[in-house]
Amino acid sequence: MLTGPVPNGARSVSWPWYHHEIGSELTEEAREVLEKYAKVPSGQVESHIYRIRDKAWGIFPWPCVGEFWFLSFGLSKHPLYTSVVLPRLKSGATLLDLGSCLGQDLRKCAYDGAPASNLYASDLFTEYEDLSYDFWQDRDRFPKGHYMAEDILAENHLFSAGNLMMTLGPGQTDIISITMFLHLFDYANQLKVATRILRLLSHKPGSLILGSQAGVAEAKEQPLKPPFDKTKEGGKRTVFRHSPSSFTNLWQDAGVAAGVPLKVSAVFQAPEKGLPSVQVDSGVSGLSDLLPTKKKQVHLAELDNRRLYFSIIRS
Ligand SMILES: C[S@@+](CC[C@H](N)C(=O)[O-])C[C@H]1O[C@@H](n2cnc3c(N)ncnc32)[C@H](O)[C@@H]1O
Repeated sequence: MLTGPVPNGARSVSWPWYHHEIGSELTEEAREVLEKYAKVPSGQVESHIYRIRDKAWGIFPWPCVGEFWFLSFGLSKHPLYTSVVLPRLKSGATLLDLGSCLGQDLRKCAYDGAPASNLYASDLFTEYEDLSYDFWQDRDRFPKGHYMAEDILAENHLFSAGNLMMTLGPGQTDIISITMFLHLFDYANQLKVATRILRLLSHKPGSLILGSQAGVAEAKEQPLKPPFDKTKEGGKRTVFRHSPSSFTNLWQDAGVAAGVPLKVSAVFQAPEKGLPSVQVDSGVSGLSDLLPTKKKQVHLAELDNRRLYFSIIRS
């Protein structure tokens, strides 16, 4: 887990994941949402992004910040986004974006027609609330009080009395997005987080948890690299990288622990930008039926770069 004080020098702009040039990360889509939703004049889009990105880097030097991943709108790339998430939101369902960073996925939902009153965000850092408003320039349109600063790994009594439980309540939220989130933690903490997410999820059958994250062919605990490689106590930090089957097992175990019946689907799919894709079906039907059917061979070297798309549906 990459929380706690940032080690000395971690905010240096010399780290390879701090990209000095935005380049192709500024897609037409990102430009469109910034110009049309945030109303940033077209000649100022780049400077606006650099300014906010550097403030976000000062809060915490996440790769998703340094690499401009926050312009990718990861949730909208999920195969269930257009067919399930957006229609449900438009019909009144609520969505929590856990690990929301600059609130980009929620603003994309709002831009795509979801009522902002149904959208909620949560992240570790209180500073992201203001910075999101600065980035999206929507203080007049995006409701106050819909951002909940919270450590999802907080001790039990703190989580039970925390912002998420107090604002959303147990068993109330219809859709929970965990895009590029769970892979930040080691296995034990992933199980803890999954169980907490199930406490927040609505009791209605069909309630949905979905997202995408880094995946690997052989599931394993991986040591982190400097500057995030040490715990406060000086031990080694690890993150657990999933294959489709290990991811499915994690959620089945969380479901048993929380007493929630679940249907889990997890498949590999190469990310956007026309990269070749490979799919390994977890053997569970659902999400795989909705992904493009075309399967291509990829070289082994690319396999560790695969993205795992998943959905967890309450039965
Ligand atoms: C890799 S970023 C992904 C951001 C966004 N979901 C996306 O896909 O663009 C992970 C986010 O999780 C948040 N995070 C990390 N540890 C957390 C924790 N213990 N509790 C809550 N949020 C956490 C980080 O602050 C960061 O914004």
